[in-house]
Amino acid sequence: MAVRLAMHYRTAVSGDYKDIRAFLTAQGWIKHIDEQSFCQMLENSDRTVVALDGSRIVGFGRALCDNVSIGYLSAILVSDDKRGHGIGRKMVKILMGSDPHIKWVITCGKKSFTFWEKLGFRHTEHLMERSRTIDRTRTIDKTIRKNIAPPTMKKRIKKFIKYVVVKPKDLVMRKLYSFFNE
Ligand SMILES: CC(C)(COP(=O)(O)OP(=O)(O)OC[C@H]1O[C@@H](n2cnc3c(N)ncnc32)[C@H](O)[C@@H]1OP(=O)(O)O)[C@@H](O)C(=O)NCCC(=O)NCCS
Repeated sequence: MAVRLAMHYRTAVSGDYKDIRAFLTAQGWIKHIDEQSFCQMLENSDRTVVALDGSRIVGFGRALCDNVSIGYLSAILVSDDKRGHGIGRKMVKILMGSDPHIKWVITCGKKSFTFWEKLGFRHTEHLMERSRTIDRTRTIDKTIRKNIAPPTMKKRIKKFIKYVVVKPKDLVMRKLYSFFNE
């Protein structure tokens, strides 16, 4: 008879990184973060938690925290088929610990508002955020396009026309314009 292993929770170790990445990617997350950057993200997290159903990863979460005053929760995710069983709550509790002096912050989508409210989070007027100035999605897409799909002949011709015909023509027109307007 197969022995059913219970749900358990623990800190992520480097041997888990590949599986955690696969877990997050399968749920549609971190698609544009390469393996090396992902390991860096986890190495630089102050707290991590993996929820395991036997040996299967069914939840993951991480936090950046100074252990005194402030903590930031990120990437709290429970597998689709395991939601609503208290796994998310348990992971967040493990990440936050019990120090009442620490203020915890989360950025999240509307869909999970109720979940956070149930864990004591409230919307405030004091939180501001600065978005990334470079969208990793775009940069990586560009690199992928560059590496995988060489430009077609049509694109090459277009580029040639742009730089050999259109741009110089614009330049000449601009020069003529400024000459007659001076
Ligand atoms: C949000 C998420 C982590 C919750 O995990 P979970 O294991 O399903 O949550 P729990 O079972 O621990 O739920 C705790 C409480 O929140 C409630 N809850 C959880 N998700 C909810 C939702 N989407 N809408 C309304 N209530 C929700 C539960 O009903 C439960 O309430 P109870 O204490 O009254 O019974 C999970 O739905 C998920 O992975 N969502 C996609 C990723 C995401 O949005 N993450 C959060 C932003 S980083």
